[in-house]
Amino acid sequence: MTTILNESAVSASGGLGEVLAIRGGRPLRGRVEVKGAKNLATKAMVASLLGDTPSVLRDVPDISDVKVVRSLLEVHGVTVDDGDEEGALSFDPSGAVSAHMEEIDAHAGASRIPILFCGPLLHLLGEALIPDLGGCRIGDRPINFHMDALRAFGAIVDKSYEGIRITAPNGLTGANIELPYPSVGATEQVLLTAVKAKGITELKNAAIEPEIMDLIAVLQKMGAIISYEPNRVILIEGVDRLVGYDHRAIFDRNEAASWACAALATDGEIFVGGAKQQEMLTFLNVFRKVGGWFDVREDGILFRRGGALKPVVVETDVHPGFMTDWQQPLIVALTQAEGESIVHETVYENRLGFTEALVKMGADIVVHPHGIEGGPRRVPRRELEQAAVIHGPTPLHSADIVVPDLRGGYSHVIAALTAQGESIVSGVGVISRGYEKFFAKLEALGADFDVIG
Ligand code: EPU
Repeated sequence: MTTILNESAVSASGGLGEVLAIRGGRPLRGRVEVKGAKNLATKAMVASLLGDTPSVLRDVPDISDVKVVRSLLEVHGVTVDDGDEEGALSFDPSGAVSAHMEEIDAHAGASRIPILFCGPLLHLLGEALIPDLGGCRIGDRPINFHMDALRAFGAIVDKSYEGIRITAPNGLTGANIELPYPSVGATEQVLLTAVKAKGITELKNAAIEPEIMDLIAVLQKMGAIISYEPNRVILIEGVDRLVGYDHRAIFDRNEAASWACAALATDGEIFVGGAKQQEMLTFLNVFRKVGGWFDVREDGILFRRGGALKPVVVETDVHPGFMTDWQQPLIVALTQAEGESIVHETVYENRLGFTEALVKMGADIVVHPHGIEGGPRRVPRRELEQAAVIHGPTPLHSADIVVPDLRGGYSHVIAALTAQGESIVSGVGVISRGYEKFFAKLEALGADFDVIG
C-alpha cells in the first residue's frame, strides 16, 4: 500500500515529504516521462535576462531548482508566468532591476545558479551580487574559474563578508580564456557573458555537454553568434542586442539514466518516455556491459536486465565520458553484479559518501579516498579523485538511512527498493531539487512506500 501526501506540499528543505518508509524487494515496472533537463532549464531561464523581449521555455521540469531560479528572476524584476502549454514558462525581463543581497540570499536556497546571473546582470545593470552558494555537498565546489573569467572580460570582483559584488564600470570586452578544466558552470558563465561583450571571445578547454550545446542553441535563437570549433574551442562574437527565445529544453538524460539503473537494480522493466539515444550513447554502452538490455523507440527507451549482471570498471568524466551524475544509481545496480567493479570518480572529490548507507544495507563497497593507482585509465589521474570497489552480488537488507544529496539520495531510495524489508529513508526532500514528481513516479512503477514525515 502506498500513501502519498500532496507532492506540492513537499519541501526541499524540511517539512512534509522528508521521510519515507520503503518496503523493498519488488521490481519497479512501468512507464515514467522525463521532461527538460534541470541542468539546461535553469541556465536557459537565466539567459532570458539577456533578451530585450520576452522568452518562452518549454518542458520545464517542476523541480525545486527551477522554483529557486524563478524566485531569483522575480526578485530581479523579471515577470514569470505560466506559458501556453503545460510545462511552459514565459519570462519578461523588461522590468529588470538590481536586487539586495538579503533578497537574493533568501531566494537562492541551496542553489549554485546565482553565480550564472553575473554576466547578464552586468550587461543589464552594471552590477551583480552573489550570496554564499549552495548546491549539493559533494566537495569544495570552488568558483575560481568563474571569477577569473569575469575578470578577463573586465569585471571587478569585490569580496565582502556578505558575499561577492561584481561591477563592470567600463563595460565588458571579449577575451581569450582557457579553462584549467572543462567546467560546465564556468563554460556557461563565459557563454552568458560573452554573447553581449564587445568583440570576440575565444574559450579554450570548454565543456561540451549536450546541455551546453542546448544553451548555445537558446542563445543563437536570441541573436548570438557562437561557433563550436574542434578540440573544445568555442568562439563567440559579441552583439549589441539579443531578443527573447522560444525553446523546448533538451530532455533530462541524468533522470533517464537514474530510472534505467533503477530497472537494473530492482530487476524490473522501465520505459523512460522522452529519453533519446544520441545524448546517452556513453551511458548505454556501460548499461549494456553491465548486463542491461534496452530498446530505443520513437518516444523513449525501454530498460531492463538482459541476464545476470556483470561487473564493470568505469571512470566518471566530462562529456563525452561517463557523467559523474550517473555513477550513484549505477553503483546500486553493481552491488547485484557477480564480481568486482570499480568506479573512479574523477570530477568531484567527495561524491562517494553515499555508499556508506549501501554498506549499512549489506553491500560490499570499499571507498579509496585518494583513488587507486595503476590499471588502464582513459582519464588522467586527478589529485581529488576517489574510487569505489564493489564486490557482488550482495543481497541488500533494510536500514534507517539519511540521504546526503540529490543523486546520492535517489540511489538510497533505489537501494531501499532493492532491499528486503522496510527501510526508513530520511531527508528525501532534497531529491525534489532534480527529480520531478518523484513520489508519483515511484508509485506508478509499483514501489511500496509511505510518506511518514
Ligand atoms: N571547479 C573548480 N573551479 C570552478 C568551477 C569548477 O575547481 O570555478 C571544479 C569543481 O570543483 C569540480 C569540477 O570543476 O571538481 C567540475 O565542476 P563543474 O563546474 O563542471 O560543475 P558545475 O557546473 O558546478 C554541473 C551540474 C552538476 C554536474 C556537473 C558535472 C548544474 C547546476 N550542475 O555542476 O550537476 O554534476 O556540472 O557535469 O548544472 C547534479 O545535477 O546533481 C549536479 C551536481
